Amino acid sequence: MVNESAVRIVIIRDTGTGMAQDSLLFYSKRGARFGQLNRTLQRHFNLFLITDPTEIDGFQKRTVAAALVDSGGTGAAAGDVIAHLRALPNGSDIVIGLLRDKDAVVGGSVSGPDRADTEINGDLPVAAMLAGFWSAYERRDSLAWNALDRDSRKALVTAKEAFDVLANLPTDESDPAFARALFSSAATRLSQVANTPRTSLMLEQLRGHHNYTFSHSTKVAVLLSGFGAEIGLGPGEQRILAEAGLLHDTGKLQIPMEVLGKPSSLTDAEYEIMKTHAALGGDSLRELYPDMPEIMITARHHHEKLDGSGYPDGLKGIEINEVALLAAVVDIFSALTDKRDYKDPLPAAKAFEIMRPLAGNHVEGRLLTEFEAYVQDTRLVREAAA
Ligand SMILES: [Fe+2]
Ligand SMILES: [Fe+2]
Repeated sequence: MVNESAVRIVIIRDTGTGMAQDSLLFYSKRGARFGQLNRTLQRHFNLFLITDPTEIDGFQKRTVAAALVDSGGTGAAAGDVIAHLRALPNGSDIVIGLLRDKDAVVGGSVSGPDRADTEINGDLPVAAMLAGFWSAYERRDSLAWNALDRDSRKALVTAKEAFDVLANLPTDESDPAFARALFSSAATRLSQVANTPRTSLMLEQLRGHHNYTFSHSTKVAVLLSGFGAEIGLGPGEQRILAEAGLLHDTGKLQIPMEVLGKPSSLTDAEYEIMKTHAALGGDSLRELYPDMPEIMITARHHHEKLDGSGYPDGLKGIEINEVALLAAVVDIFSALTDKRDYKDPLPAAKAFEIMRPLAGNHVEGRLLTEFEAYVQDTRLVREAAA
């Protein structure tokens, strides 16, 4: 059986709000003004719009991860709203952004224990507004990492370092804001995934064997789980995707360095050796992850093609599991936009130009279209911040 999987992906965009993993409260009396901001936030959070501070009391039993408080309009003083938020059971952990118009005087006390974590200039484009907020949110996740055991924390910090290295490459895709937006939305998922001894061990081994494969796998994990959230998968499925992404190329642990690390194109014979990484990875992961079939499936089948010309099993069309189809799209995009010794990274737009003709015969067309929309959205965030 090659198509067994607990994750059932319906390849239709789900616009419901239940998809995001964390809840964000947005207090504002001027909803219409922040339409674009709302849409962006909805991609990352379960968003609740409130116009009255007393509505916050209704969230006693629900964990709120973040809040934005708009100090403009004719609403309650921002300080009072923040005080309400801080009074929630996990109030001190909530990442609060205070949205203020340039030069505006903010009513109420916004200092002391009731202060916001970050102030946001409400006159800026959405991405610029969110840049500071994302850093504050990422800091919160970093603090959460301190609670992990030593090995898990190490694996996670290593993964983040690899991502930062990727993010800092001097290329079109190198903007730290772009990376931060991606990483912030994926940090929780990655931390949950890395918090298992078997996965952190695999990551360490992969890093020791071949640093590029490690970095590439981190990028695939971030994009794959972020994209999963985008198409409406729940938190549990996003975690599976993150783990599947981290481990999809672990078969390369068994590929000799003279092939894996060769700084130029591979010969036909070397390419045949390289191709064995899919089956090798699938075999070892089947034993390590008997409880998570998607991990094995992704490793074994991320190089299958719809028309049956892929490897290792030459599966066709619906024989290929949806998770593997998803991973194939993300894997190709990542490889094209990665920098290697022997090639420059391609800008995202160019990568999609190359990928579009693959729809239907190689990759699944609707997934590719949806993935392009997801990346372009994230890039919008980046470009507006620049
Ligand atoms: Fe691969
Ligand atoms: Fe890969």
